[in-house]
Amino acid sequence: MIVVAGGTGQLGSHVVNQLRESDARASFAVLARDRAKSRHLVEQGVEVRLADYDRPDELPRAFAGVKKLLFISTMAMNRAEQQKRVVDAAVAAGVQHIIYTGLAIRDIETSGVRDLMRSHFETEAHIAASGVAFTFLRNTMYAEAIPVIIGPQALERGIFLAGGQGRVPYASRAEMGEAAANVLLQRGHEGKTYQVAGPEAASYEEVARALSEATGRTIAYQNISPAEQLAALEARAS
Ligand SMILES: NC(=O)c1ccc[n+]([C@@H]2O[C@H](COP(=O)([O-])OP(=O)(O)OC[C@H]3O[C@@H](n4cnc5c(N)ncnc54)[C@H](OP(=O)(O)O)[C@@H]3O)[C@@H](O)[C@H]2O)c1
Repeated sequence: MIVVAGGTGQLGSHVVNQLRESDARASFAVLARDRAKSRHLVEQGVEVRLADYDRPDELPRAFAGVKKLLFISTMAMNRAEQQKRVVDAAVAAGVQHIIYTGLAIRDIETSGVRDLMRSHFETEAHIAASGVAFTFLRNTMYAEAIPVIIGPQALERGIFLAGGQGRVPYASRAEMGEAAANVLLQRGHEGKTYQVAGPEAASYEEVARALSEATGRTIAYQNISPAEQLAALEARAS
């Protein structure tokens, strides 16, 4: 039995679709916290186990009889503590293999997002220390995040970001969902850490060029300082 925890989310939905299209349909379930959000899955014949990570008493039932858990990371402010509780409950319930979706990054310790993102690596360390078999899927930045990052006025005003010439090998959630489903369905991924990323890395300059070609407009990328970017973000939020 496979459980997809986070199967009602955006990435998880792609995983579930992949599993539904495979022969494994009868042997997977979705862990969901929201009954209404999971109703369509029940209607499709998917087993749904209702549990909230913040209600630890609900977790043992959700993990009963589960061999493989795909644990899709959350965005909780207390992600490290929350996810450790989930891992502990899974291990206590006898889950044999945890596949965790973390973060692909060159070096978390020197990264500007270290404080926000190191919880992924703390979760990985906790899983590894538990002794359970694991696979870490370190996901690159979603291609779907580009419009969010460049902002709603990029097509009119251009792209203003403190990204330098940094490049990211974006991939879509659908592609990363397919990769996760393959790991769930195949043997031999225990003990492995994968960087799940697209085949080509793009800078914001290249994103701007691609947008210019797609829209017929001239969209420029301007590298700004971190202080200027912070001010722009604050202005957007106010
Ligand atoms: N690589 C990237 O560029 C990137 C960007 C953003 C985020 N991420 C990470 O990737 C994860 C998955 O991305 P996504 O777009 O699929 O996000 P998402 O749609 O928010 O999926 C997160 C899933 O976790 C479930 N969840 C959250 N808190 C829970 C709780 N307390 N109890 C039970 N389930 C809970 C959510 O349940 P509901 O469906 O009920 O909300 C949802 O199904 C994110 O959570 C984040 O950690 C990666």
